[in-house]
Amino acid sequence: MREVTELSITQAVIDRLKDAPDARFKQVMTSLVTHLHDFVRDVRLTEAEWIKAIEFLTAVGQTVTPKRQEFILLSDTLGVSILVITINHPSIDGTAESTVLGPYYWEGAPEFPNGANLAEGVKGEPTFYSGRVLSSDGAPIANALLDVWSGDGEGTYDMQMEGDTGMKARGRIRTDAEGRYWFRSIRPLFYPVPDDGPVGDMLRAMGRHPFRPGHIHMIVSADGHHPVTTHLFAAGSEYLDSDAVFGVKESLIAGYDRHEAGVAPDGTSMDVPYYTCRYDFRLRKA
Ligand code: BEZ
Ligand code: FE
Repeated sequence: MREVTELSITQAVIDRLKDAPDARFKQVMTSLVTHLHDFVRDVRLTEAEWIKAIEFLTAVGQTVTPKRQEFILLSDTLGVSILVITINHPSIDGTAESTVLGPYYWEGAPEFPNGANLAEGVKGEPTFYSGRVLSSDGAPIANALLDVWSGDGEGTYDMQMEGDTGMKARGRIRTDAEGRYWFRSIRPLFYPVPDDGPVGDMLRAMGRHPFRPGHIHMIVSADGHHPVTTHLFAAGSEYLDSDAVFGVKESLIAGYDRHEAGVAPDGTSMDVPYYTCRYDFRLRKA
């Protein structure tokens, strides 16, 4: 076909995939072309809008650095990341739900014994976390690994702090023989996703705010089980109903109980009020 019409162009592009060697790639591209063309016809895209879209995607690419992935942020804020996660990690048998990884994961955090303070020298309200890691049948899992990270009590991650601060408010903890874990960190506060780039401009144009509710990140893994990349969201936090990246799941909202200064669960004497947060993770058998 030499000449195309507004409608026949779609099949013409799809026909060019006939020799694509990878069947899955062919399926994905066929669907992508179909939906993309339908979208362009649906909104009657103008040439000015088309060039604006090209400039936007170019700016997104130009914002990417080894420390900043603006394309993932675009995917996060358009709900694509959580959609892919939800399709690929359905919640079965009450096992812990997955949510976005986010840009602040730092591989190789130090391993601490149970009871350690992961947020030594980090500002924020002290919080004692505890719970168990269980298999889907309820059996406790010994030696499960919790890779934990969060911002400080003002919502700032070590990676965003001035200078080379090294790792802060991160660490890995292993469950004991009864599947129990316990550690100290801070109560997480809401904070904005990076909004000084093209994705921030897009959010403003959409009339949206850039905030995420207070949360602490975890990757929980154990032999013979599917690992889960997840968060605990602080009950009562602002923005639980409007997370900029749509990451909130009801089952991941954890209570943070406030206690007056006194003796903490680990026997340390606290001269400021502190919080406790209990959460059990169930992992699906591999
Ligand atoms: C975060 O949880 O830190 C985060 C997640 C997605 C995008 C930006 C930040
Ligand atoms: Fe985060």
